[in-house]
Amino acid sequence: MSSDNRETIPAARPAIGDEEIEAVVRVLRSGRVVQGPEVAAFEEGFSELVAGRHCVAVNSGTSALHLLLLALGIGPGDEVIVPSFSFAASANAVRLTGADVVFADIEPGSFGLDPAAVEAAVTPRTAAIMPVHLYGHPAAMDKLMPIAEKHKLAVVEDACQAHAASLNGTPVGAFGSGGTFSFYPTKNMHSLEGGMITTADAEVARTLRLLRNQGMEQRYANEIVGANMRMTDVAAAVGRVQLTKLAGWTEQRRANAAYLDAHITAPSVTTPPVSEGARHVYHQYTIRVRGDRDAAMAKLTEAGIGNAVYYPTPIHRLKPYWEPDQKAGRTWDLPETERAAAEVVSLPVHPSLGADDLERIAAAVNALGENL
Ligand SMILES: Cc1ncc(COP(=O)(O)O)c(C=O)c1O
Repeated sequence: MSSDNRETIPAARPAIGDEEIEAVVRVLRSGRVVQGPEVAAFEEGFSELVAGRHCVAVNSGTSALHLLLLALGIGPGDEVIVPSFSFAASANAVRLTGADVVFADIEPGSFGLDPAAVEAAVTPRTAAIMPVHLYGHPAAMDKLMPIAEKHKLAVVEDACQAHAASLNGTPVGAFGSGGTFSFYPTKNMHSLEGGMITTADAEVARTLRLLRNQGMEQRYANEIVGANMRMTDVAAAVGRVQLTKLAGWTEQRRANAAYLDAHITAPSVTTPPVSEGARHVYHQYTIRVRGDRDAAMAKLTEAGIGNAVYYPTPIHRLKPYWEPDQKAGRTWDLPETERAAAEVVSLPVHPSLGADDLERIAAAVNALGENL
């Protein structure tokens, strides 16, 4: 509730409608609840979002990253270049394979990996680059792919926040060796929990199918060491319903963002830039705030505007990364990452916002003025 007794506009609102509920009930009644026909149909449907690439469904976005790295043969002795300005899952997936994380700085505009920083971070041990399409904005794939080709590196796209984003007409998840998506409830579309891996390589897709299911294609004829990272048919049925709504929701997010772009004028605030050729899908609408960010966020909260910082601590400063680096005397030079972590605030942009909500959000941000 705001200080003037209006409902708080939540930062995110997971969509679960009657169709999703009916789909879940239908699957439960069918008795086929794990890795069955719904999963296969969801994979086929999702493939249309990623230029027809093979799609392999798993139980989370983190599992998707982890298995894709494993399927590409990445492990101990390898280095993977990752942005520190992301959710910890991006780096965690690398560390879970036994490979080393090498952090590179981001571009200030797109919040994605800075190609020059990536080029400078390549060593003889580099096996892969992991661009993260943060907030729904595509990373600079036009510049990152040539670097990967030059050094013969795999490219693992973390598209967990960027369903249906694209750069110069190519959808995210269709650039690299493979891509990964999350279907966590607050994502642009969800399956309660879930993830999808995309790849153009049929062999990688087959390995992924083995890895998610104990290394088995045929029951008890285990071919490799795998895990259980299967998606349930219940999750897939929700995902299939959401897939039919994604295009409309994305347009609504983009329209909401366009309204905020046009109406936010506070001098202390920078609205999110969009790179040329980029189709931003606004998983988050993330502004930069100059001055006292904590005070600005408190004022927004008081006005009933949900707000959050993604992410206040860059990954390299989190304990599992910071402590071993300190021990090894390793430091990272990531000024844009540090600056972004100190300045960003995400505002509500989800498709359930109404015209009144958008007006309230813009007015509350504009009331920050110079934020001195
Ligand atoms: C950038 C990024 N990478 C990876 C993940 C992991 O996805 P999940 O939560 O489905 O495991 C998320 C989402 O939470 C994410 O935002």
